[in-house]
Amino acid sequence: MSTDHLKIQFKLHPVPECLLSRNPPPHVNSIEQYKKLYEESIKNPTEFWGKLANELLTWHTPFQTVLSGGFEHGDVTWFREGRLNASYNCLDRHAIKNPDKVAIIYEADEPGQDRKITYGELLRDVCRFANVLKAHGVKKGDTVSIYMPMVPEAVIAILACARLGAVHSVVFAGFSPGSLRDRILDASSKIVITADESCRGGRTIHTKKIIDEALVECPGVEHVFVFRCTGSSVPFSSPRDVWWHDELEKQRPYCPPEIVNAEDPLFIMYTSGSTGKPKGVIHTTGGYLLNAAATLKYVFDYHEGDIMGCMADIGWITGHNCIIYGPLANGGTAVLFGSTPIYPTPSRYWEVVAKHKITQFYTAPTAIRLLRKFGREYVDPHDLSSLRVIGTAGEPINPDTWEWYNEVVGRNVCSVIDTYWQTETGSVTVTPFPGATATKPGSATFPFFGIDLAILNPDTGEEIETTEAEGVLAIRRPWPSMARTIYNNHNRYLDTYMRPYKGYYFTGDGAGRDHDGYYWIRGRVDDVINVSGHRLSTSEIESALIMHPMTAEAAAIGVSNEIKGQCVQAFVTLKPNSNNTDVKDLTLQVRKYIGPFAAPEKVYIVNDLPKTRSGKIMRRILRKIVEGQTDSLGDLSTLANPDTVDTLIEEVKNS
Ligand code: WT7
Repeated sequence: MSTDHLKIQFKLHPVPECLLSRNPPPHVNSIEQYKKLYEESIKNPTEFWGKLANELLTWHTPFQTVLSGGFEHGDVTWFREGRLNASYNCLDRHAIKNPDKVAIIYEADEPGQDRKITYGELLRDVCRFANVLKAHGVKKGDTVSIYMPMVPEAVIAILACARLGAVHSVVFAGFSPGSLRDRILDASSKIVITADESCRGGRTIHTKKIIDEALVECPGVEHVFVFRCTGSSVPFSSPRDVWWHDELEKQRPYCPPEIVNAEDPLFIMYTSGSTGKPKGVIHTTGGYLLNAAATLKYVFDYHEGDIMGCMADIGWITGHNCIIYGPLANGGTAVLFGSTPIYPTPSRYWEVVAKHKITQFYTAPTAIRLLRKFGREYVDPHDLSSLRVIGTAGEPINPDTWEWYNEVVGRNVCSVIDTYWQTETGSVTVTPFPGATATKPGSATFPFFGIDLAILNPDTGEEIETTEAEGVLAIRRPWPSMARTIYNNHNRYLDTYMRPYKGYYFTGDGAGRDHDGYYWIRGRVDDVINVSGHRLSTSEIESALIMHPMTAEAAAIGVSNEIKGQCVQAFVTLKPNSNNTDVKDLTLQVRKYIGPFAAPEKVYIVNDLPKTRSGKIMRRILRKIVEGQTDSLGDLSTLANPDTVDTLIEEVKNS
């Protein structure tokens, strides 16, 4: 592969002077210090992580073995003899010392309805709800599905599970009943926690109704705890359904934490892969918590008194890590944001930053692209002087959006961090360090501690040893927060991550490394689409489309989009005698089966799809046709039906 493009000199942004002269100084305050720590973490991982694990976490039983096992069998363990409890680490140890310190600042959908929750209060609420769960039979190792809006009770539900050693599986509140059902069934949860309704961007979401629809096909669910959020009357079927507030009143606000093994699972997080069925990624208590704590401290350069403002939903790994486990493990304060960037106006983020004096602000590039379109007049009137670190995650950030973020939001005095990671990595993997790394817009720069990156030739699997490299991104050795398995499907775990390139963890992303050693993430090399930072698989969307009675075949593709990064477009062929299908029905089909965020922007009804002789749909050709690159369609000789291409070009043009 040519690497000429890696020779381009990108603008280098040094660490802003004012960050270096601060007191206290950044945790890592020069590139030399970063390099030294990074080298230690790679040369001597046992000492490095052993020390950090004792510094950042409280163990009820100390560990003896820092790391054992490896990628081949997927038997990696970290801190295997160690015993601890995640909620104790996030709550008790801070509440004992400092009960009045604010743990969570809740910014509700409607401006002006914010609420502060201290460590003392949060501990009591979590204990009470843990006792409720206990009274209903929840115990260590049980899985509990949580489908909740962005309210403090969601944090309480999550930590109550952790307190009992129960495994939480939070399903993003944007998922449809069908997706929710699949996730509840896959996790075999007997308990579901939800709310009556919720509000987002001024609109009401009928959460309980969605749950009821999902549960029609989940006979194993014994209880649904319903938090009263809006107070509207909702369908309620006792004794399965139980009101959160009724039960809470009965319980004492202390519940002893269930001390678990470091390798006991803390949670399941479903994510899309290249096949239809979502994968239940398993994260463990010790390793995950350590990396979450370390991310907040080092990647966000978190100091006592800082206010972490992560705008993600708690239904994604970013929310788990940067709203709950990272900030609370550090005894910090996190904002829980229950609205959208543009409700009621495109100033909302900046009003929230100014009001709560947020020091670290974190969102997805898609939000920045959207706000940039509205213009800086929505940003400028707000006092953003509290900000020190502004970050993005979830998808590539294009350099001009980066520059806008840096100049307009960061006023050139903040550190801008483009952080690369995945649900499976559990914590930030490639990132600048705020006090150390000179940044290049569009590059996630360097690996985090302990992350041993490699760029492989995708065809041969050989590692590219030169500094300048272009290929697929892999990791050479285990790190504490790596996913340990896929729930009930270890073989799929090995197939997806460990077997594509022997001896490596395979990320699924393409990447380049330039002459200065900076990493540039190119995006997925598999059939995963990234819409506004939401990860979707093409086959998931296709399965939804095929469920429509009129659909014969379907192909979904990701097409570049100015705001969303990518958007979904779909090609459908119809069964005979079904010419009247309305394209809207097909879009609705996807909304219904997956969720609104997955809905195709466009559906083309066509005569035939380009296929290989073995019947594989060539999505690459569809993508080129839609993007107008019909003169670079590549080799069509492998197609079983090359004539379809010209017809398709016409069909797309005329639609
Ligand atoms: C995929 C993972 C960030 C955690 C939440 C998303 C893409 C993520 C970046 C980035 C370019 C990125 C990758 C990755 N991605 N961060 N900074 N630059 N691409 O986790 O839903 O598991 O998605 O998001 O393609 O594989 P996720």
